[in-house]
Amino acid sequence: MQKESQNNYYVPAEDSIFLADYLENQKGKSALDIGTGSGILAKVLSKNFELVVATDINIFALKKAHEIVANCICCNAADAIHVNFDLIVCNLPYLPSDKLLDVTVDGLHEGVEIPSMIIKSASPRIGKNGKMIFLTSSHANYTSLIELCTSLGFDTKIVAKKKLFYEELILVECVKYIN
Ligand SMILES: C[S@@+](CC[C@H](N)C(=O)[O-])C[C@H]1O[C@@H](n2cnc3c(N)ncnc32)[C@H](O)[C@@H]1O
Repeated sequence: MQKESQNNYYVPAEDSIFLADYLENQKGKSALDIGTGSGILAKVLSKNFELVVATDINIFALKKAHEIVANCICCNAADAIHVNFDLIVCNLPYLPSDKLLDVTVDGLHEGVEIPSMIIKSASPRIGKNGKMIFLTSSHANYTSLIELCTSLGFDTKIVAKKKLFYEELILVECVKYIN
């Protein structure tokens, strides 16, 4: 059972900051931050979006996020959401793992099993010309995520990369071209 402590949510790291900086320039009416953790990305989005909703599977993360984000929902990915958003963002848990021991980072097979599930949950919540931006890494089989997004009707491209000592962070932007 989870205990409420500092360690029960993802403390913003280089990946969070990299995505947060990119999101500063995004604008629209509504945005959804999946896996909000501390709420850092939702907070950035709230500068340029009228409505920002944040989800996380971890209630303790959401309690932290709720200190700075008004609309927080505890659910898997976007499963509890039934309206569309202009923009959906996610700093995905992307590390390859055999088991799901740490939801903040474990992505299961090739670091794409959990990310693929999150993307499939998010996709129906994005209408034509809506956008999804996610962060993955060279640790993950990110090309398979790009293929997945293409198969779901998105124009998909890598928009930024950042080399760290031990990996390369990869930002992917997807624009829906079908309804
Ligand atoms: C890498 S952390 C990112 C946290 C925060 N967005 C940031 O950038 O600092 C991934 C977050 O996704 C959440 N998460 C993992 N699996 C999830 C799922 N199936 N549905 C919703 N949130 C999930 C974790 O609890 C964690 O807060």
